[in-house]
Amino acid sequence: MSVIDALTALEILDSRGRPTIQVTCTLASGASATASVPSGASTGQAEAWELRDGDMMRFAGLGCQQAVQNVNTVICAALKQHPFDSQADLDEALIALDGTANKQRLGANALLGVSLAFARAQAYEQGVTLYQHFATMVGLELTYLPRLTINLFSGGKHAGGQVAIQDVLVVPTSALTIKDSLAHTYAVLQSAVGLIETKYHTRPLKADEGGLAPAFASEDAMIDDAVQAIQQAGFQAGEDIALAVDVASSHFYQDDHYHLGQQALTAPQMIDHLKTWLAKYPIMSLEDGLAEEDWMNWTKLTAALGRQSLILGDDFLCTNPERIQRAAEQKAANALLLKVNQIGTLTEAARALKLARDNHWQVVVSARSGETEDNWLADLATGWQADFMKVGSIQQSERLAKYNRLLAIEAETKLPLRQPL
Ligand code: PGA
Ligand code: ZN
Repeated sequence: MSVIDALTALEILDSRGRPTIQVTCTLASGASATASVPSGASTGQAEAWELRDGDMMRFAGLGCQQAVQNVNTVICAALKQHPFDSQADLDEALIALDGTANKQRLGANALLGVSLAFARAQAYEQGVTLYQHFATMVGLELTYLPRLTINLFSGGKHAGGQVAIQDVLVVPTSALTIKDSLAHTYAVLQSAVGLIETKYHTRPLKADEGGLAPAFASEDAMIDDAVQAIQQAGFQAGEDIALAVDVASSHFYQDDHYHLGQQALTAPQMIDHLKTWLAKYPIMSLEDGLAEEDWMNWTKLTAALGRQSLILGDDFLCTNPERIQRAAEQKAANALLLKVNQIGTLTEAARALKLARDNHWQVVVSARSGETEDNWLADLATGWQADFMKVGSIQQSERLAKYNRLLAIEAETKLPLRQPL
C-alpha cells in the first residue's frame, strides 16, 4: 500500500519544442519520482484527450498550463493521503475523478503524468527496478528483451509530406544483443547518409524522430534506398536486417481513396499495393496499412497478408481495449502498437496488452514523435515483455535516452533478445 503525500506538475518542452507535462509524485514513505509525458503528431481520432490551453498567443495554443494546474489542484487534493493498494487502484481513482469517456475534463496528459510518476515512486518505495515493477504489475516474468525497430527514413506528417508514407524502419534480425542491434543500425545509417549525399545531393536532413528525409521520388524509391543502404553496409536485406513500414495511411485517405503518390487507390487496390511491397521487399511489419475507420478492409488485409507480416494497428487501435476487442473479433489485425498516452493510464494500457496477448498478437511498445528525455519507455517495453520496441532513429537525445536505458538494462539483466519471428 502506498500513500500519496504530494503531486506537483510542471510544464516542460518536448523534442519539437512544444509544451508537455512532467509530474512528480511523493509518497508518505519519502519515495519520490518524476515522469514526463510524450505527445504525437500523426494522432489517431480515437486517442484520449490531450488537454491544451488553446491560448493562441502562447505556444500557438499548445500550452499545458491547464493540465499542470489540474494535477496541482483537483487531482492532488482528491488523491492526497489516500492509500492505494496498486497501480490499478490509483488509475481507477484517476479515471473516476475525470469522469469522461476520453479524459477530456482533466486531460489524458495530466492523468498519465500522475499514473507514471506514481509507478516510478512505488518502484523506489519497494526497492525494485522500474522494469521489474512493470513486470510484476502485469504478472509477467522477465525472459527476454524486446527487438528493435529503428527509424531510418521518414516521410508523411513527420517530414513535410515529401512522400505519403511515414516511416521506413530497420529491424536488426541477426543481431543477438541490443548492443549489436544498435551497432548494425549505425552501419546502415552511415551508408544511408552516403547514399543520400550522392543520390540527392543534400545533407542528410532529419525529420521529427531523427529519420533521414531526402526528397524521395516515390514511396518505392524510399524503400529501395533502405534496401540499398542495408546492402551497402554489408548486410543481407531480410536475413540480417529486415524492414518495417509505418504506412500511417489515415493521413492520406480522403474521399474513400488512398492518395499514394499520383495514384488514388481504392481499399482493395491499396491492399494489392501492399502485397506487391511484401513480394518485392523484406518487410516484416506493416503499420496502419489502411485508414483508422476502414474496419471491413482491415479484415481483408489481415486475411491477405497476416501470415507474412505483422498487421500492426496504431491509429487504428489507439491502445484502446474496446477497439482491440473488436479488431480481434473481426480478425482485423495481428499486432498492437502500444502507446500509453493514446489511452491515458498504465492500467488501461495493461488491459490493452493483455487483450493483445490473449489473442496471440505481437506487441510493439512505441514512443511518440514528440518525446522527452525521460526513459521509462525502455523499462515498460522490458517489463511488459514487448516483442519489439519502436523509438525512432538512433539520432537525437530524446530517442537515445530510451536506447541507452535499454543498454543499461541489458548489461544488468543479461537477458537475451526476443527470438526473431
Ligand atoms: P506520432 O507518430 O507519435 O506522431 O503519432 C508515431 C507513429 O505513427 O508511430
Ligand atoms: Zn504509426
